[in-house]
Amino acid sequence: MSATQRFRIAAIPADGVGREVVAAGRKVLDALAAGSGAFALDWQEFGWGCEYYARTGRMMAEDGLTVLKDFDAIYFGAVGWPGVPDHISLWGLRLAICQNFDLWANVRPVRFLPGVRSPLRKADHTELDWVVVRENSEGEYAGLGGRNLSGRGPGHEVAVQSALFTEVGCERIMRFAFDLARTRIRRKVSSVTKSNAQQYGMVLWDEVFRRVARDYPDVETESVLVDAMSATFVLHPEDLSVVVASNLHADILSDLGSALAGSLGLAASANLNPEGRFPSMFEPVHGSAPDIAGLGLANPIGAVGSAALMLDHLGLPGQATRLHAGIEATTAAGILTRDLGGTASTEDVTKALIDALRG
Ligand SMILES: NC(=O)c1ccc[n+]([C@@H]2O[C@H](COP(=O)([O-])OP(=O)(O)OC[C@H]3O[C@@H](n4cnc5c(N)ncnc54)[C@H](O)[C@@H]3O)[C@@H](O)[C@H]2O)c1
Repeated sequence: MSATQRFRIAAIPADGVGREVVAAGRKVLDALAAGSGAFALDWQEFGWGCEYYARTGRMMAEDGLTVLKDFDAIYFGAVGWPGVPDHISLWGLRLAICQNFDLWANVRPVRFLPGVRSPLRKADHTELDWVVVRENSEGEYAGLGGRNLSGRGPGHEVAVQSALFTEVGCERIMRFAFDLARTRIRRKVSSVTKSNAQQYGMVLWDEVFRRVARDYPDVETESVLVDAMSATFVLHPEDLSVVVASNLHADILSDLGSALAGSLGLAASANLNPEGRFPSMFEPVHGSAPDIAGLGLANPIGAVGSAALMLDHLGLPGQATRLHAGIEATTAAGILTRDLGGTASTEDVTKALIDALRG
């Protein structure tokens, strides 16, 4: 059977377990493509990251963004390695792509999988399924501030880190969240705020939320302080459907969500430029995990779940569903990596995923 659709994908494994899970994800995607005959992926891999930095003083090639611009999507691993300050590695590669390609919507589903024990007792008998929508272009990660008073001498330095909230930035992520809620069984958007303490940016966030909500009368809404929302994730997650939050709040809450689902290694994410002006980027939520890197222990499911989000984005929802079914068959069969209490290696899980797709 000949492939009907071809896509150019840039793979950036970067550092640590990012390399292991991207390699696994590529194998699974290629097996899915070969089995389906419906699509094919033309991969180009870029060796950017902390090793590249050690050699060149840059986290990515100088013309990296120009090169990436023409791909259909970017499949990313994780960035960060001891010896390179995390703010250098993050801003030099992952955030450089997100900010310059205006990947303003970060979608992070919290999925509970069969065969995976959640630390939540409730998960044994309650259907839990929600998605964190993270504002990905401004907020607390706008990179505004400075540390230029070091002339005052040791112990007297001052640092300023400002959060940026624009009406356009708030409105677009909120509309995205409401549109997503309309595709789900429970049409509800929970806005995460901290407007009691942060009286400028977060008050604007709340006002825009109320204004946008008026255009979606069919969608239930609530506005919840971030501290209370962290408790809701643990105590009443069945009340959640779409949770929209600022860059920092959603970053933290989505790690909590993935831990509740069983492991950080399971969590998938999509960094989207919904207008399609730039390629979107798909990556597991976890970092480079230097503690287990190179040992073949990394859970590849977060990366494979991110590949499913990529297929959806490329207009292949049926293939994304097949990939999810493969993930569920693998975890239900008890083929689990160490982070989930199992003994399987990255390779074992990858093979099981491929077998499940063939089965
Ligand atoms: N998106 C990204 O690229 C990203 C995100 C977070 C952290 N980081 C970077 O990663 C480095 C390490 O950060 P960290 O330790 O705070 O977070 P981390 O996500 O790398 O690891 C946290 C814990 O989760 C475990 N873990 C992570 N991924 C796993 C997987 N696939 N399978 C099994 N276990 C997994 C690790 O072993 C570790 O115990 C830092 O340099 C940090 O800046 C990068």
